[in-house]
Amino acid sequence: MPPASFARRATQLSSVMPTSAPADSIAFDSGHAFPGLLPDLTSEAGNALSEFRAETLQYAPRPGLPELRAWIADHMRADGASLNASNVLVTNGAKHALELVCRLMIDEGDAVVVTLPTYFSAIPIIRSFGATFVEVPQDANGMDVDALATVLDRAAAAGRAPKFIYNVPDFHNPTGVTMPFERRRALVELARRYGVLLVEDSPYRKVRFEGDSVPSLKSLDAEGSAVIQLGTFSKLLAPGLRVGWAAGAPDLLARMAQLKTDAGSCPLTQRVILEFCRAGRLDAHTTRVQETYRAHRDRMVRAFERQLPEVSFQTPNGGYYLWLSLPPGVDGDALARRAADAGVIVIAGSRFFANGGGDQRGRFIRVAFSHAGLDEIDEGVRRLAAAYHSLGTGAAAGAAAN
Ligand SMILES: Cc1ncc(COP(=O)(O)O)c(C=O)c1O
Repeated sequence: MPPASFARRATQLSSVMPTSAPADSIAFDSGHAFPGLLPDLTSEAGNALSEFRAETLQYAPRPGLPELRAWIADHMRADGASLNASNVLVTNGAKHALELVCRLMIDEGDAVVVTLPTYFSAIPIIRSFGATFVEVPQDANGMDVDALATVLDRAAAAGRAPKFIYNVPDFHNPTGVTMPFERRRALVELARRYGVLLVEDSPYRKVRFEGDSVPSLKSLDAEGSAVIQLGTFSKLLAPGLRVGWAAGAPDLLARMAQLKTDAGSCPLTQRVILEFCRAGRLDAHTTRVQETYRAHRDRMVRAFERQLPEVSFQTPNGGYYLWLSLPPGVDGDALARRAADAGVIVIAGSRFFANGGGDQRGRFIRVAFSHAGLDEIDEGVRRLAAAYHSLGTGAAAGAAAN
């Protein structure tokens, strides 16, 4: 098929099927779960397929299983948000929820606000609807709300308000930064004042290693219509189940439900999760997740301090990733390619910049500490350090300048 016949959204796609990392490589790239943490769901799956067969092997209700919607609402209420089951739409993961938000909101040429950098998988989802990106810088406290105010002001003056603001306030992907309370309040207030929907994507909210949790943006949304929160069971339980949700105003969710083309998300996986949560297993599992990933983070931090002190990073208090800043003269794309040859897969920072990144483009790489085991973390960092040093004089000069 000649590429000219494809839709505009497809013209920049590669003709090569996406593949997994080679089996002998160490994967620091995607945010996969540590295999040792995946729960045994045999008994939940057994119940789901016997006791609940009439439900789980049937088409599901479009908004999701009512009991799961109610459980998610309870779970979010315990986290400070005031909502009920009518505020929850079950989806096939948080990315699917984001896609539905885009389907609902974006016409070709509309603008969407994202952070600089932002979650790399959100970029093609939003772009595929023909949106343009307005990037707002962030610092050690997350999105710069003063810069956002300027953006929203200018857009309002030009009569071209962005369709939504996309943000990851807890353990941001890729930077790992968590937004403090005052900034969250200012962000929600800005969204409300300018009438721009705020999309809070918070898959790592419970993957906290130390410190107190900060109120979610959704919990600060007093009127209930300024924020839509995207949630997921991927990062706590099992990404392969593909169950997530959107929590927001019922009229918005009703429209999103009509735009779902999956005839309802899979009822079997929803019921398995419900059985797990109702059996009271989620709290103990969450503690295990936190303890395990804390140990992974600490191991990786120590490995970088020991083996590759030329890179710098802020140690995150949760999440799955380190965002490594490279010394001048070292290019993140080149390092990611060299690392793959050396048997460790990392993601070049350039993929996290919605508009290309300008002079920041080559300055970072992202590494995940979630998936690899402790010994693999040491070995992966050793391979990455070898790849770094094999880049030659640029790397060496950069190291000296750091
Ligand atoms: C910010 C962010 N949103 C969403 C997701 C994906 O969630 P899901 O597996 O539920 O689609 C991830 C996973 O890496 C993520 O980092």
